[in-house]
Amino acid sequence: MKNEFWKALHCNVTEWMKEAGGILEQSFTDQLDVQYKTSYDDLVTNMDKQIEQFFIQRIHQHYPDHRIISEEGFGDDVTSSEGILWLIDPIDGTMNFVHQRRHFAISVGIYEDGVGRAGFIYDVIADDLYHCIKGQGAFLNQAKLPMLKDVKLNESLFSINATWVNKNRRIDPEIMQPIAKSCRGTRSYGSAAIELAYVASGTLDAYFTMRLAPWDYGAGLILIEEVGGKATRVDGSPIDLLNQNSLLVGKKGLQEEIVQHIKNEVSKGKFIQKAD
Ligand code: IPD
Ligand code: CA
Ligand code: CA
Ligand code: CA
Repeated sequence: MKNEFWKALHCNVTEWMKEAGGILEQSFTDQLDVQYKTSYDDLVTNMDKQIEQFFIQRIHQHYPDHRIISEEGFGDDVTSSEGILWLIDPIDGTMNFVHQRRHFAISVGIYEDGVGRAGFIYDVIADDLYHCIKGQGAFLNQAKLPMLKDVKLNESLFSINATWVNKNRRIDPEIMQPIAKSCRGTRSYGSAAIELAYVASGTLDAYFTMRLAPWDYGAGLILIEEVGGKATRVDGSPIDLLNQNSLLVGKKGLQEEIVQHIKNEVSKGKFIQKAD
């Protein structure tokens, strides 16, 4: 697709993000319908569904031949990354949305034949829109984000959930403990999209997780690539856009150093789960 096409799409999506953000803020005055999906810590609300439908309706209206992968299941059944594909998380950080009414985001990533073309992450309450068109720089609202510069591990802020340094079924907790100890500090925000946006904007230096879905990382990967960051699975292998993946993103040298550490630990016999 031509540059003009992406510019117009960027304009549309920016407008939709703001409108959807307004709907979410407005919803705080109404009774929220909260349900469990798979367990007590896997929540979905009426607003997750409403915002997903909001985007799907607009995409169908403006771009009827595009396909959509979205968390709450109103999108398409997609088995290939051919053509134009939207990866949508209507509320990333539903638990934060329910418990904190902040620190949640709308995440929209748009790919053409598997290549990231435009990414949007909107931290609604902060009114921070992280956005980019591939090749034209990434922005936080009006401000252009600088290219990422490398940082030493002991001067880095590293985002990791406590799950991954305690007993769990996806990674030997001893693998990441030395990294959590030797970085300057750890953080966990409860919204993967915000954490990815923070890596793109340099607010965080790296982010680690053992399991994310395409709608969680779709937009973030495009933003991070645009500012020269690196993203792979935790063992350094490439991310498969259509499936769940582990993810390690960050400033290039730091990301590579952590991947190398993980590989060394695995070669000594510690376990990581490959993929779902
Ligand atoms: C979740 C959040 C959370 C991450 C989970 C995701 P959701 O997304 O991004 O930070 O740790 O893996 O599923 O369900 O709130 O959209
Ligand atoms: Ca969810
Ligand atoms: Ca999510
Ligand atoms: Ca979600």
